[in-house]
Amino acid sequence: MLTEEQALKILNNDGVVAIPTETVYGLAARIDSESALTQIFKVKERPFFDPLIVHVSSADQAREYSKDWTAVHECLAEAFWPGPLTIVTPKKDNINNLITSGLPTVGLRCPNHRVAINLIKKLGVPLAAPSANKFSKTSPTSLAHVKESLPEVAVLDGGSCEVGIESTIISISNNTELEVQLLRPGMISLNAIRAALDKVEVKFVEEKNIQVMPGSLDDHYMPILPLVTLDQDLSEDQIIRNVQSQLSIQGKNKLNTFTKLKLPKEPYLAARQLYLKLREVTSKDCDFIVFKIENYMRAEGWSAILDRLSKASSLHLK
Ligand code: TXA
Ligand code: MG
Repeated sequence: MLTEEQALKILNNDGVVAIPTETVYGLAARIDSESALTQIFKVKERPFFDPLIVHVSSADQAREYSKDWTAVHECLAEAFWPGPLTIVTPKKDNINNLITSGLPTVGLRCPNHRVAINLIKKLGVPLAAPSANKFSKTSPTSLAHVKESLPEVAVLDGGSCEVGIESTIISISNNTELEVQLLRPGMISLNAIRAALDKVEVKFVEEKNIQVMPGSLDDHYMPILPLVTLDQDLSEDQIIRNVQSQLSIQGKNKLNTFTKLKLPKEPYLAARQLYLKLREVTSKDCDFIVFKIENYMRAEGWSAILDRLSKASSLHLK
């Protein structure tokens, strides 16, 4: 088992280490080690145009890297940090362009995990970390998942992740007025963010039109077997007939058998188990996976889970 001391040594010698957070495991590098940052992209096979999130141990540390720190930043950090909220904000020059893919902004997050926080405190410098999986594949929520997809990487064990899906990402911009925009849904809902900011003058920008987000590419989170999402109850025969006529998978002549993905009814539990369940069903001996979107999943608490499932799915049957 990798100890904290060994992890510190690897990181201080320009290496990368997978670390636990409350959302998913991250593949971490010191933000001041260009060669370690480059390794992240190599190991993950991640394109350089996809920026990394910078993990800090406190709001005070975040302030050192953000060009301005407004009442909105302050309120959100106070309400949700440590926790699964990433704040994209104009960066200072001390953030390497490799981290931000040349963007003038940086994503900052203070993770709610003792192992990660202790590590960042002892290093004295933040850790840049994307999820510890190959680019566009399912994110890892345990040490075993990291080992499965990145066997060569040293992993610090922190148990299985409590939240289970990636952080909510919002951007804060400050042009003529302070504006907040949701870039990626997560288990901290937009309503919770609105509530935390009820005493601050801020505009919420609704449309997703500021920048292209690699995290919003359609094939993100792709499991090994094709996933089919359903809006209504269809018989087995109907599902198979629809899939056979609408989905073609390279190297597969027939799509005859499927397994149903089932999640707990409570959204926090569902999020916690989502990637584990996806891994379990896709390891089954069948041709595709089916997930039925129930009416109770239309509630706000499910939006991040449905977002990940729709990005993972190859076909949606209405
Ligand atoms: O919960 C999480 O956020 C996990 C854990 C490890 O902290 N991290 C994570 O990282 O999900 P990753 O790299 O898989 O997804 C980060 C997303 C990317 O899709 C990237 O596009 C977006 O954050 N991002 C990072 N910096 C950004 C920026 N300056 N502007 C816009 N999007 C940014
Ligand atoms: Mg990821």
